[in-house]
Amino acid sequence: MSTGSDIETLGPSTTADYALRGLWYYALPAGALKPRSMVPVTIMGEDLIFGRDDTGAPFALNDSCPHRGIPLRFGRFDGKTVQCCYHGWRFAPDGRLTEIPSLAEGQAFDYGRVRVAGYPCREADGNIWIFLGNDRDEMPDRDAPRIPDIGANFHRIFETQVFPCPLDHAVMGLMDPAHGPFVHASWWWRPSTSAHEKAKHFAPSELGFTMTRHKPSSNSRLYKLVGGAPETEISFRLPGVRIEHIRAGRHQVVSLTGVTPIGPKETLVNQAIYWTMPFLTPLRPVLARVMSTFLGQDRDVVTKQQIGLTRNPPLRLIDDADTPAKWYLKLKREFARARAEGRDFVNPVPDTTLRWKS
Ligand code: FES
Ligand SMILES: [Fe+2]
Repeated sequence: MSTGSDIETLGPSTTADYALRGLWYYALPAGALKPRSMVPVTIMGEDLIFGRDDTGAPFALNDSCPHRGIPLRFGRFDGKTVQCCYHGWRFAPDGRLTEIPSLAEGQAFDYGRVRVAGYPCREADGNIWIFLGNDRDEMPDRDAPRIPDIGANFHRIFETQVFPCPLDHAVMGLMDPAHGPFVHASWWWRPSTSAHEKAKHFAPSELGFTMTRHKPSSNSRLYKLVGGAPETEISFRLPGVRIEHIRAGRHQVVSLTGVTPIGPKETLVNQAIYWTMPFLTPLRPVLARVMSTFLGQDRDVVTKQQIGLTRNPPLRLIDDADTPAKWYLKLKREFARARAEGRDFVNPVPDTTLRWKS
């Protein structure tokens, strides 16, 4: 079914106001955050340090000492306070200044006047999320994304790659059903000649849309690995979180992809895969390799695309294969408008069926 005009011409630049505020962004896999260490990550042009305090809670602070601006990442974190490497000022995980070593006996200082900016963080399913509001005091009004409940016995792997492209192109690449046979063609996945006609039902869901549960195409060899007759459901939500849930008999596989802008032209893509089948676990190194190859194929194609995009050509999005990409742009516009107008977000995605060949 067509939705709106069948060609939508996209303006030359998608980099102005490239990322939304007021949403949870994937920051890093939780395993990368060891106790008493700090991990620097740049998100939306802000240099941040992530840490985990002695209670295990993750935190994120601006990576800049409010004294003389040296990045805090060069300092130390003992599980309780971050100490700057230059003059030893100490900060609590919530950003409060707690100590200035140079203060002499009797020198009063109002510690409440200095603070490092921080943002709310959550850990869920082995992932660390950060809520980037308009300022550090904005609190999230909804929870960070979670994977569906797949019970207590599962295994997981993680992969992080930097895509040298704007957020929008990384996200649109992620939800684009038509590139598979061309970008991901290989003997072990699917031959490039095997395009089938697909018809999939979509429904609006929280901050995005869901391709409702259906049998995946029989031309994907990877699905055969899970055995039985697998069914999958794929959901997307702003700012760029895709969760695919495959059920095959009593077994389940979930893949979560979180797309996070580093800056206007660089994007972090994190992927986590969870599975319940014990027989897949010895294959972990192979799965990690497949995951990395797959994501690398997506990265390589957008890297080539950037060469063309430096000329700012108009882009034409067609029905129905690009309809999810059109929805993404609509969702972004509506989210930004609703926030600016201080009203509730109204999901613009219709309940519909899309058809394409891939
Ligand atoms: S610059 Fe950080 S304590 Fe002086
Ligand atoms: Fe892809």
